[in-house]
Amino acid sequence: MKEVNKIICGNSIEVMEEFPERIDLIVTSPPYNIGIKYDNYNDSRPFDEYYEWCREWLCSCYKALKPNRRIALNVLLNIGNSKIRRDSPCVRFSNLLEQVGFNLHSIIIWEDPTRSTLSAWGSWMSASCPYIYCPYEVVIIASKGNWKREDKGVSDISKDEFKRWVNGIWKIPTAHSKSFPVPFPEELPRRCIKLLSYVDDVILDPFCGSGATCMAAKKLKRRYVGIDVSPNYCRLARNRVKMLLF
Ligand SMILES: C[S@@+](CC[C@H](N)C(=O)[O-])C[C@H]1O[C@@H](n2cnc3c(N)ncnc32)[C@H](O)[C@@H]1O
Repeated sequence: MKEVNKIICGNSIEVMEEFPERIDLIVTSPPYNIGIKYDNYNDSRPFDEYYEWCREWLCSCYKALKPNRRIALNVLLNIGNSKIRRDSPCVRFSNLLEQVGFNLHSIIIWEDPTRSTLSAWGSWMSASCPYIYCPYEVVIIASKGNWKREDKGVSDISKDEFKRWVNGIWKIPTAHSKSFPVPFPEELPRRCIKLLSYVDDVILDPFCGSGATCMAAKKLKRRYVGIDVSPNYCRLARNRVKMLLF
């Protein structure tokens, strides 16, 4: 596949058309539609329009994956405050994944142990309107076709990693960057890649942002494809991947 080990600038729906059934694992985190200030993407769209777009790119992900391969999709568990309507992206995305043909496998809870405690309480000590806060994100794991891979490959996960990571509660501190608003902590894609793919597999992140998935893939001797609509973020991701010394 000639597109491997590249970060491609473009609309992921269009770019994914170029490699049907070539991808072994998708690890990604889409825009959440919660008003994040991205370079050239509007993260405050009407929710119906947003979820329709999500259905479209999930369909493209489905087509890009080889049969009997997996997707790891990081989204929020719940959203909602006084400005944004309450919603469960986890439920919405689970439904969308099934609608486009994926088989749901499991949901990993990602907890940030460093996240500060709640400071907005809603109706303080009153049942009138308490604000229930959920400091977790999720990684929804699903497969195209069978969960079990019949093909042979090299797994590089250690005994200790395997035992810890099949327990689906992952404590990983959030990452921060001056150049990008919402970077993955590299540990998140690293775990997904080691647990769900073989060495030399092709890993795709269709919303690659600062490039954490591609970096983790390269370090783990997988091939990678990153896509982002922002030329600035693509430059950032390419530079970060290039800086890796192997
Ligand atoms: C939540 S961020 C991804 C962050 C990434 N996981 C990281 O570690 O940096 C979502 C990304 O999707 C990109 N994006 C939005 N619409 C896109 C589209 N149609 N095609 C490709 N990328 C898009 C945004 O530019 C943004 O970088």
